[in-house]
Amino acid sequence: MDIPASRWHAAIAVRRSRRRFDFTPMEPGLVAELRSLCEEFRPFPGARSELIPGSPDKVFKGAVGPYGKIKGASASIAFIGDMTDPNVQEKVGYLGEGVILEATAMGLATCWVGGFFRPKVVSSLIEVGSDEKVLAVTPVGRAADGLAREEKIMTMFGRNHRRKSLAELITGAGRSAPDGWKKTALEAARIAPSAVNRQPWRFQVEADSITVLSAGSKIDFGISTRLDCGIAMMHVEVAALDCGLKGEWEFLEAPSVARFTVAGSG
Ligand SMILES: Cc1cc2nc3c(=O)[nH]c(=O)nc-3n(C[C@H](O)[C@H](O)[C@H](O)COP(=O)(O)O)c2cc1C
Repeated sequence: MDIPASRWHAAIAVRRSRRRFDFTPMEPGLVAELRSLCEEFRPFPGARSELIPGSPDKVFKGAVGPYGKIKGASASIAFIGDMTDPNVQEKVGYLGEGVILEATAMGLATCWVGGFFRPKVVSSLIEVGSDEKVLAVTPVGRAADGLAREEKIMTMFGRNHRRKSLAELITGAGRSAPDGWKKTALEAARIAPSAVNRQPWRFQVEADSITVLSAGSKIDFGISTRLDCGIAMMHVEVAALDCGLKGEWEFLEAPSVARFTVAGSG
């Protein structure tokens, strides 16, 4: 499946984590669309997603951690990686964010959940191979109208949606105001979601490439920063494609994650 660049670029601007849903079942047509999205969007071997129809209330843990429990969604999607792949975290982040952006474009609400779900419940609902691990799950459905008071408290009245400036995120020689496709791509990456909004990605900018680096290896709630970096990779590529530029990813050794080089740059 090709990335629908302008559709997902528009979704990047409006996506927000939602944790309260309206308790109504999703229309069968939407369920079928989500199922084929999960089957068809497989950009890398070793990373896949699977739709789990039905209320996921048992999948998510209760009021522990910073956010409280996710309630009222009509389905969930598991993001699964092959743990023998050295780049599994970034591949699952990249793949999962594609699924999240398409769900957003379909008018559905989502929330990456990397810490507060029950892997055993997920494995009782779907097939998970012996080398595989469920790295995250998202609820999916229609968000409850507005932001309920409870949900505002869970996001600390929006503080969890704030982002660092580009100046704080760009490292190395290309720091001085990037322009053209690179500016658009970095802006898209800057507003990507990350676990506990830690924004661990940094970007090195060269003439025809953007390198994504991880600012640390801190593992909050068991969630790798490389998973967040994979999400930022997806935002970089969607924005570049929407500027008319195709590119290739090359995976790199830690603390670098991957370099995106636009085609035809030699
Ligand atoms: C990999 C990952 C794991 C996350 N885990 C959780 C979680 O366990 N529970 C939760 O409520 N939110 C979780 N979030 C959502 C983040 O808190 C949220 O993306 C961040 O605060 C930014 O807010 P926004 O998504 O509304 O832009 C996670 C996000 C990511 C990317």
